[in-house]
Amino acid sequence: MKIAIGADHAGFRLKDDVIAYLKEAGHDVEDFGCHCADSIDYPDYALPVCEQVASGQADRGILICGTGIGMTIAANKVPGIRCALVHDLFSAKATREHNDSNVLAMGERVIGPGVALEIIKIWLDTPFSEGPRHANRIRKIKEMEDKFAIHP
Ligand code: RB5
Repeated sequence: MKIAIGADHAGFRLKDDVIAYLKEAGHDVEDFGCHCADSIDYPDYALPVCEQVASGQADRGILICGTGIGMTIAANKVPGIRCALVHDLFSAKATREHNDSNVLAMGERVIGPGVALEIIKIWLDTPFSEGPRHANRIRKIKEMEDKFAIHP
């Protein structure tokens, strides 16, 4: 898979672990930063990752900050993005089956690399259920985006 990844200063260490894991697993990874502990603003890193996913240039996105919350909020402002904040294995599977999430957010200050890599494996391997119940809910989310879309 082509995977776009980004982090802020509170998530870049876990990002490096994740990139190493993804490359080892054979994925094509594009790293949008950041690369050091200097304080930066997480929306600046969520945006390019989400643009890649929303445009189809990347299959999936992964975002990491201290809690994962800021990245999740920012990512879900981008039309077409369904970003899930996940810190456990059950949710990793459920959000793929039920929400067809295309971006995964995690918090480096919340979980360690062992759990994070297990989450990523499950999240990448689990297909969307395709069931009409879930597809209908995702269609309604798309309608919400359309309702608030700004048409110049
Ligand atoms: C940075 O201090 C922290 O606020 C950020 O990484 C994230 O946790 C925000 O939601």
